[in-house]
Amino acid sequence: MMISLIVDGKEVQVERGATILDAARKAGVYIPTLCHDSRITPYGSCRMCVVEDRNRRGRLIPSCFTPARNGMDIITETPEITAARRTQLQLILTNHPLDCPVCDKAGECALQDLVIRYDIAESPYRIPKKDRGVDLVSPLIERNMNRCILCGRCVRICNELQGTHEIDFIHRGMETTIGTDGNRPLDCDFCGQCISTCPVGALTDTMFKDTTRVWKLEQNETACSHCGLACPIVLNTENSEIRRVTPPVSDQGDIGNLCVRGRFGWVSYAPPGRLSTPRITVNGKQQQASWPDAINMAAQSLNRIIDEYGGDACAVLSSDAWTTEEAYAYQKWCRKILGTHTMGSIAAEGYRQIVTILVEQLGETWNKGTLADFENADAIVVIGGGAAELHPVLKPMINSFLKGNEKELVVISSWRDFFIERATLPIEINPELRETFFSALREALLGKTKHHRSDVNDFGIDCSALAQFVSLLHQDKNIFLLIVPYLFGDNEQLGQLAACLSSRVKAILPLGGQFNSRGALFHAGFSPILQPGGVPAHGSQRGIAHADELFKAIEDGVIRALYILGDDPLEEYPDPERIKKLLEKLDLLIYQSPYEGAVASMAHIVLPSATVPEKEGSVVSLFGESKNLRSILPMPDGTKSDLRILQELVKAMKHVGTPYREEIICRELTELKSDPVAGETASQSQDAHLEFTWKEETINRKSQDYPLTMIPIPSLFGDGMVSRNSPQLNELRNGISILMNPDDFEERSFKKKDMVRITTPFGSARGSVDYSLNVRKGTILTANITGNAEGLSLFREHSRIVPAKLTRIEDHDC
Ligand code: SF4
Ligand code: SF4
Ligand code: SF4
Ligand code: FES
Repeated sequence: MMISLIVDGKEVQVERGATILDAARKAGVYIPTLCHDSRITPYGSCRMCVVEDRNRRGRLIPSCFTPARNGMDIITETPEITAARRTQLQLILTNHPLDCPVCDKAGECALQDLVIRYDIAESPYRIPKKDRGVDLVSPLIERNMNRCILCGRCVRICNELQGTHEIDFIHRGMETTIGTDGNRPLDCDFCGQCISTCPVGALTDTMFKDTTRVWKLEQNETACSHCGLACPIVLNTENSEIRRVTPPVSDQGDIGNLCVRGRFGWVSYAPPGRLSTPRITVNGKQQQASWPDAINMAAQSLNRIIDEYGGDACAVLSSDAWTTEEAYAYQKWCRKILGTHTMGSIAAEGYRQIVTILVEQLGETWNKGTLADFENADAIVVIGGGAAELHPVLKPMINSFLKGNEKELVVISSWRDFFIERATLPIEINPELRETFFSALREALLGKTKHHRSDVNDFGIDCSALAQFVSLLHQDKNIFLLIVPYLFGDNEQLGQLAACLSSRVKAILPLGGQFNSRGALFHAGFSPILQPGGVPAHGSQRGIAHADELFKAIEDGVIRALYILGDDPLEEYPDPERIKKLLEKLDLLIYQSPYEGAVASMAHIVLPSATVPEKEGSVVSLFGESKNLRSILPMPDGTKSDLRILQELVKAMKHVGTPYREEIICRELTELKSDPVAGETASQSQDAHLEFTWKEETINRKSQDYPLTMIPIPSLFGDGMVSRNSPQLNELRNGISILMNPDDFEERSFKKKDMVRITTPFGSARGSVDYSLNVRKGTILTANITGNAEGLSLFREHSRIVPAKLTRIEDHDC
């Protein structure tokens, strides 16, 4: 319901429940604030936002948390209001150093702006300033508590939005400050949300420290390429070099959310030591080459393989960290020139596996979900653990969602992950019995079983929770389903489960996609099962859809040439030793990427390409938002965009014409059939997708030799190639980390951060160990495995959850 009021003579209408500040912003009237951030609950500590209602003169009201009422007549600046704001500023300055010349916040500091606006030279109050200390040891974030004005924004953002509870007010009275428990260094998500909200220079970005002054920066908005959410980011550059990344701020002062990768992982957009010269292999040795030589060799080798074995002998892999235009051009080249339909992604394998099943079961009619669907849902259902690590900005998104009225969050996971802790209906299942649970869910949906509240059976399935979930699915609710793929291995059953639930939910959004996975698949058709425009491919139009089938085809000599764009099977797929041997069998291995990588050193041809901020084009986020990218950074000498490389390759392959020119690619993309992002909920009969057969459980049971069950979980600091090329994120990853139950931990007399050897039936690796109440007894969670050859050796393709044992590393084992 709308209400109407006047702000500084302007009539404005707002929803009931909006504050006076909201109304003023809507009317385009400026009210100063210090402790306000629209993402979190108003707090009312700074009183800078006081205003008056003409109907009730003489009372100053804080506009940031006073609800707007019908008929209010608000004035935002009077001599009394100005005096009150001046007094507040003077009080704040009693304990705030005026060290703007050395403060990184100078030039964008809300306090500095207000001090100038209200003409305050200094505070008239004379009390000795407290020394509250500076934290110079935490990674990435400097805390200078002498500059803190105790607005509480960082505490609220960390608790309410990030859900991390890392910092709080500590001490009392004049001693009050912001700190961690025991005032230890930060050990958190390092999302930097506290930096983005701090109105002064108390929390700052150490990567930016002393590099320049903010007024020298050029700011350009683009999209973060560390994961498929493609969050908007602002690249702050000076002389075309990145100095920092900040979240975008809207005209209304709303600040965007970023995670550690988005904020601090920017070195990977222009990493030192990146590939900058093509290489070719001559007489078994890689050597530097000119672009024409490298392109000609690639063209001739590809033509030879097509002539000898047919186009089907070629396959193309991409990390999906490219534009939709590039993905479209490459699929066109694959289908029309190479003559292959085998194009995929190791980095986005889980996402692609689930999409494959959904397309097979539901065709193109399923609703892939948009941001609006997510925000307007009554309930969000998350199937699978680790969503918050896979796409960290889901944390603030889900926490904001839960602030709405009567919103529900159902989470089904094999471990107590971040979201299960916040769920209104948490369903934690024994990792060894996932398939049993999914079968029970199917039975329950079909009405074949009855469940009672106390019926928690031997298999670790909480049937009361299962019954509640089934009851939710039967209600007339707007449900948004998020499917989290397993980090490695077979995600077919998750895809089948999603398909099974399709007629009971509004939208299904598979997670795990890389930067432009959704654009590459559903728009560009860079997929063995989808053509451009998201049209399912049939029969001979289909290529190999799974990585393990692709590797089998290489093993059998069916695939002879592999063209890899930014992907790296040796760093992202289980059992790298076997994969290396397979890649050695290829007649032709081409590696094209901005980055060095394990595959680069063994490729026959290496082509250095551009990073995302160096390119033009468009991308589509996992939530279906289309974004246009501009080239912000210059492409370094010796590198070319993926599209440019393709144009030269096509020419060298002696294909005449110019069908790969930018304008032609763009035109063809716009001419594609209707927007494949949207889609109606599947209209098939409710139970059409329930009758599938579960595969035999693929889990290897634990035994006396291997008494623990190991689950690989996604890394908060990123598992993809882009993140692995950030030194800052790598430092936070800091090798394989193992989390176990406190009882298991104590039983083995481990100490926190002990280095241990983890051994599975397939391999062994070193990692540091810690405990958490969130891990069930008998289970261990391992993170930071991609990019680690030892870590990847612990698994086999279908063994995502494996039995394991842990032993302390003795000195001689190091
Ligand atoms: S970086 Fe993020 S998690 Fe850490 S203290 Fe700041 S807001 Fe909290
Ligand atoms: S550190 Fe910054 S955000 Fe936190 S209370 Fe102090 S001034 Fe406010
Ligand atoms: S959630 Fe993903 S896209 Fe968003 S900032 Fe983090 S890594 Fe980047
Ligand atoms: S902004 Fe309203 S009290 Fe601080």
